[in-house]
Amino acid sequence: MKSYDIAVIGGDGTGPEVTREALKVSEAAAKKFGFKLNWHHFDFGGDRYLRTGEVLPDSAVSELRKFRAIYLGAVGHPQVKPGILEKGILLRLRFELEQYINLRPVKLYRAQDCPIKDKGPEHVDFIVVRENNEGLYAGAGGNLFKGTPNEVAVQESINTRRGVDRCLKYAFDVAKKRRNGAAWKGLKSEDVAAGKTSQLTLCGKTNVLTYAFDLWWRGFQEMAPAHKSVKTDYAHVDAICMWFVKNPEWFDVIVTDNMFGDIITDLAAMIQGGLGVAAGGNINPEGTSMFEPMGGSAPKYTGQNVINPLAAINAAGMMLDFLGEAEAGVAIETSVVQIINTKIQSLAAGRMGHSTTEVGDLVAAAL
Ligand code: IPM
Ligand code: MN
Repeated sequence: MKSYDIAVIGGDGTGPEVTREALKVSEAAAKKFGFKLNWHHFDFGGDRYLRTGEVLPDSAVSELRKFRAIYLGAVGHPQVKPGILEKGILLRLRFELEQYINLRPVKLYRAQDCPIKDKGPEHVDFIVVRENNEGLYAGAGGNLFKGTPNEVAVQESINTRRGVDRCLKYAFDVAKKRRNGAAWKGLKSEDVAAGKTSQLTLCGKTNVLTYAFDLWWRGFQEMAPAHKSVKTDYAHVDAICMWFVKNPEWFDVIVTDNMFGDIITDLAAMIQGGLGVAAGGNINPEGTSMFEPMGGSAPKYTGQNVINPLAAINAAGMMLDFLGEAEAGVAIETSVVQIINTKIQSLAAGRMGHSTTEVGDLVAAAL
């Protein structure tokens, strides 16, 4: 029987509660599809930091590197200054483990969960490929004359040819593999006639950020001919925010830099029904990847058993897919859709009509 070792960081706030349900559903999938999951728990997060002063010891990074997958509940603690845990755990692992892709499927499962009038599941179904190691997140820059009236703060966006190209390549591959080559409904008939089956939109700001997005643009143009089945498209980041609300059905796969990706995926999470369902993966295709619900630690709900675990469960589905258990990944998502459509009143915390534990049980049973 195939067996997988997975590192688990439940983290802060409601992180451990949703993680518990994600692991429960993963176990049900393992049983159904005949593989074994060995969970290795790590207690990194705000509580440990407050207790020991340690965020993530160096030894932890080398320890975590041995795993193919990490499952992360949430980081963020009300008693810890913003930035310490985010930079010390999440961003550090993204960088040191070279998880250079942040993958965010955006799929609306039920029309009533979409805040946009007249949009249903047929309109909101795309995937964002966010660069995850560079850009404004790289940490280049500094403060000069700090604390004086002459203070200067510089924060530079780092874009390397290698970093941009590997992100674009990943995005083209995602686009090519989507829908198993069946043409995406958003294509025009002439695109289909030209052999296109999917669309990849580069999201940038070529009209203002003329250095960084010039590099992205050239990389994109140069790579396109090798991917004939993918229709290429471009949108400025501000315009994409507008289209997400007005015409989300225009998008199939979107590729963008780290900062723009951060912003547009929060907007995207809202049109797919909110943080209760939005999941993401920090991917190193050749190394250790890390999967997480998008929703943060939501500390005010801690211990109440009311937080929505579906995003966490979806993150587990993505993880199993990454590990090579694609069938299990699909089955988890199908069960989530089924439970949303038959049992869940609202995707918001405290308004599901069920507790966190019950929702996990329902999805596991549906499997
Ligand atoms: C995300 C989060 C992180 C980010 C924070 C918590 C550092 O917002 O995963 O999108 O900015 O990348
Ligand atoms: Mn974010």
